[in-house]
Amino acid sequence: MAKNVVIVGSQWGDEGKGKIVDILTEYTDIVVRFQGGNNAGHTVIVDGEEIILHLIPSGILHAGKTCVIGNGVVVDPHVLLEEIKMLKEKGFFRDQDLLVSKDAHLIMPYHKKLDMAKERLRGDRRIGTTGRGIGPAYEDKVSRFGIKLSDLMNEEDFRAKLKVNLIDKNHYIRNILREEGFEMHQIYNDYMEYAEKIGPYITDTSLFLNEAIKDKKSILFEGAQGTLLDVDHGTYPYVTSSNTVAGEAATGSGVGPTRIDTVVGVTKAYTTRVGGGPFPTELDEKMENALRDLGKEYGATTGRPRRCGWFDAVAARYSVRINGIDELVLTKLDVLDNLNEINICTAYKYKGQILKTFPTEASVLEKCEPVYETVIGWKKTISGARTLDDLPPKAQGYVKKLEEATGVEINILSVGAERKETIIKKNPFA
Ligand code: GDP
Ligand code: IMO
Ligand code: MG
Repeated sequence: MAKNVVIVGSQWGDEGKGKIVDILTEYTDIVVRFQGGNNAGHTVIVDGEEIILHLIPSGILHAGKTCVIGNGVVVDPHVLLEEIKMLKEKGFFRDQDLLVSKDAHLIMPYHKKLDMAKERLRGDRRIGTTGRGIGPAYEDKVSRFGIKLSDLMNEEDFRAKLKVNLIDKNHYIRNILREEGFEMHQIYNDYMEYAEKIGPYITDTSLFLNEAIKDKKSILFEGAQGTLLDVDHGTYPYVTSSNTVAGEAATGSGVGPTRIDTVVGVTKAYTTRVGGGPFPTELDEKMENALRDLGKEYGATTGRPRRCGWFDAVAARYSVRINGIDELVLTKLDVLDNLNEINICTAYKYKGQILKTFPTEASVLEKCEPVYETVIGWKKTISGARTLDDLPPKAQGYVKKLEEATGVEINILSVGAERKETIIKKNPFA
């Protein structure tokens, strides 16, 4: 039976969504990105070769599956074309396999400049954005100054909208920031060139997806970022500018919520975060450096070292609630192979009280102290495990504890970055 499955990150991003989407693409017909932009970096390793996708769904490595960039995504056309070029060079891209929503909004050169300028303005309260123009592009969308891909295909509309935007943005950039503004003809010419190259992929993707559902095709919705970076439900203001939660799969693709069957949350066996903001289980420098080395925790988009911490069950339970997560995927369990002891945060201590539910206020969360339950490490290499029984009993015990602490079953376990280094207990498309 055809199923439509949403995959979301349940932490602060980089949970290993790319690898899991790549593996599950085999069981679906269509893979859709529904929010975010090229702030995402989704890594897939195929026969030792690392491929990082920023904009195109991680299903693209499988021939014959349709990959859709939905209306909820913000698209930097230069990045899209570079990604297509990279994939073509590696032999992974066929023109007929990519569709881009006509209703997706464009990232413009001034968005990137404004992104970085606003970060400077925040000083030591900066978010630590990826600098890709994501926030300002979504600001324009909501303030109704945005330029859609459909506008890009209509020269007259594009020129008129760009003109208004440049009056507004150049005023701010030149007179407030005292920096160099943008010239109409330069952007216009560049974007008309992009229009010609991207034009063939642009279509009504909501119509396509709904027709596919009628034809009993399966859809995998690929979330970017993570739940705790959601603009409504995350650790605001230290978040991204889109809704990253499962509900957005509907809005960001033009498919009704009644069409979604299952929500899968991807979680690391520990926690990482890139950029600023509260992080209760963050490790001290020595242990953080050790875990970062073991997990190769450097940003797939910006190369920044990721902050590392223990598994946070308070945050995980919150994520289960906000997304309606039916089942979990646990990744990077192998990274913990050599540790003597592993901590699981089961509650927070705040002003002498025990908190079992996640506070989203940054000012509260930064004062929360984790309450840990400590388990003994398994001290064995587990990357060769292909079934649960192949895992050492202590590793099985750790997985069980996470299931108990989150209240959700872990149906897929990842024990290495390669496709084959995976244990599938139950397939969400089954
Ligand atoms: P995403 O943004 O959620 O797709 O995650 P990223 O690609 O940014 O980061 C996950 C990193 O962990 C990538 O380098 C993956 O290749 C790697 N990875 C994924 N699963 C595993 C795993 O089970 N074990 C190990 N050691 N690495 C993994
Ligand atoms: P994937 O899909 C981890 C973080 C940034 C910053 C904040 C806002 O690979 O999991 P933005 O550029 O979006 O305005 O930055 O969000 N961030 C991510 N962190 N993984 C991501 O994506 C991220 N995308 C944005 O580091 O803290
Ligand atoms: Mg990533």
